[in-house]
Amino acid sequence: MNDDIRQKTKEIDEIIAKYLPKEEGLAATVMQAMNYSINVGGKRIRPMLMMEAYRMFADDQGDEVLHRFMAAIEMIHTYSLCHDDLPAMDNDDMRRGMPSTHAKFGEAMGILAGDALLNYAFETAAGAFECAGDDPKKCRRCARALSILAKKAGIYGMIAGQVADIEAEDKDSSQVDMDVITFIHENKTAAMIESSLMIGATLAGADDKQVASLEKIGSDVGLAFQIRDDILDVTGGEALGKPVGSDERNGKVTYVSLVGLDKARQDVNDLSESAVAELSNLPGSSTAGGKFLSDLILGLAVRNR
Ligand code: IPE
Ligand code: IPE
Ligand code: MG
Ligand code: MG
Ligand code: MG
Repeated sequence: MNDDIRQKTKEIDEIIAKYLPKEEGLAATVMQAMNYSINVGGKRIRPMLMMEAYRMFADDQGDEVLHRFMAAIEMIHTYSLCHDDLPAMDNDDMRRGMPSTHAKFGEAMGILAGDALLNYAFETAAGAFECAGDDPKKCRRCARALSILAKKAGIYGMIAGQVADIEAEDKDSSQVDMDVITFIHENKTAAMIESSLMIGATLAGADDKQVASLEKIGSDVGLAFQIRDDILDVTGGEALGKPVGSDERNGKVTYVSLVGLDKARQDVNDLSESAVAELSNLPGSSTAGGKFLSDLILGLAVRNR
């Protein structure tokens, strides 16, 4: 990890911390489980993409409106991990280098912490309207951002991908072809990455065409991100912070089992190059935000965790 990324990650951790719940009252356990699952670590890629997409299109650094959406996307992502690790899903006991939420707090609390993070994400994002005050332009941008957040995490996004991923486990492997894997990757992973970039740009006032272009970039980055994740499930080491070989244990057909490691690596590279090329056509690509984004995209293609 280079110093730039380390510094950004620290900045993002401080932003997210502002919106985490206090652990108090009779339901304190679920708040502890929420905070544990977030504070245990994570690369913070989604809020990072959101922040830099904002900075590409705005001439300020972003205020509480942006910060609330950054915290919200990380809460939704973390909820998806809490649930993804449950015994009924991938049944993994390690996450972000520590016991996964259900392993630490029990299965019921693993489910509830995920539910709570999802709900609290929308509570946090909805608070952005208060910050936007009476400014109709800001309110309209918040409304658009909220709708992107909801859609890309839901049945036309992340949840759809998780459904297809789980159902594919019980299918004959000949039925799980590249079309099915692409549907799974596009939805379970790329949708949240698209949403991050689109929300950042939307809050900064980018127009519809620019937001659509960021959706395409997010799709390429997201597909590359999940192929790399499938590669690391085979080749990863301790730095990964989650079990290696989880996909094979669960009988999953993956990008790697379909095309092999060499082609998978080549495709991660090609998708990342195509995302950077599309990015370079956008106004703002030579701003600090734009440059950071293209370096980040190329760095993610060779990540080890
Ligand atoms: C893991 O996401 C789940 C996938 C979509 C592959 P990340 O690799 O971003 O996990 P953290 O947030 O850094 O732990
Ligand atoms: C999960 O994909 C993507 C989510 C929506 C959580 P994986 O099941 O491959 O993610 P990891 O490898 O457990 O992080
Ligand atoms: Mg999974
Ligand atoms: Mg998993
Ligand atoms: Mg995986």
